[in-house]
Amino acid sequence: MESPIGIFDSGIGGLTVVKAVRKVLPKEDIIYLGDTARLPYGTKSIDAIIQFSLEDTQFLVDRGAKYVVIACYSSASVALDMIRKEFSIPVIGVIRPGVRRAMQVAKTGKIGVIGTSLTVYSGAYEKAFKEEGTQAEIVGKACPLFVPLVEEGWLDHEVTRLVAREYLEPLKKDNIDTLLLGCTHYPLLLGTIRTVMGDINYVDASAEVGSELAKNLRELDMENNRGAGSTAIYLTDLSMNYKEIGERFLGEPMKNFSRVSLKGRAK
Ligand code: DGL
Repeated sequence: MESPIGIFDSGIGGLTVVKAVRKVLPKEDIIYLGDTARLPYGTKSIDAIIQFSLEDTQFLVDRGAKYVVIACYSSASVALDMIRKEFSIPVIGVIRPGVRRAMQVAKTGKIGVIGTSLTVYSGAYEKAFKEEGTQAEIVGKACPLFVPLVEEGWLDHEVTRLVAREYLEPLKKDNIDTLLLGCTHYPLLLGTIRTVMGDINYVDASAEVGSELAKNLRELDMENNRGAGSTAIYLTDLSMNYKEIGERFLGEPMKNFSRVSLKGRAK
């Protein structure tokens, strides 16, 4: 099936998911929407993020997406069910694949989850862990300052280490043996997070999302087996430094991007 895979995020951080999907599905066309005009999602209300996420999905569906990937953890936490209800195409979020991976690698009964305030307070991870049937104790911690620190490029910086200590020391005291990085931006801080948390298991869901998506496409007979896939990047605002920040996530030069406006969508 030659239609593209649609991937959306509140901004540019979801390009890490694009990178992971591209790695396992080199022949697929990808259209990516980053809602940079309304970033951040992680500090806003559930209602606002459901509405924004429906509009993001509509944009991708209007451009012919055959499958939608919610690369934004905040959106996936609160809007996945509503998106599945409103659209007929298959949708995958970033929460479950990470949960399943964490359950595979965790050895003791304690798993830590870090994310934006919206993600952590939504309770989406607790619900997902419960539904996946784990007995593990889940310890959540919102780390809202991590997002602006990554956008600033302070990946290896004294201020970031200080903030990380402040947020993560309680998790360290809780003796978790696995930490789920429940936000697009956090894998870039892994080095700093490791200096506080030490040698435990770290789960970044993006690789898992790529392999689950590949498996689903195969099962649904929706793969694209024609030539090399393209990536088109749409952003709702070309804000300052967006290219520099985007390349930090994508790990390569950012090409083929344009600014778009989203149509409103009634819930
Ligand atoms: N993409 C968001 C997430 O993964 C982080 C940035 C934001 O708050 O919008 O939760």
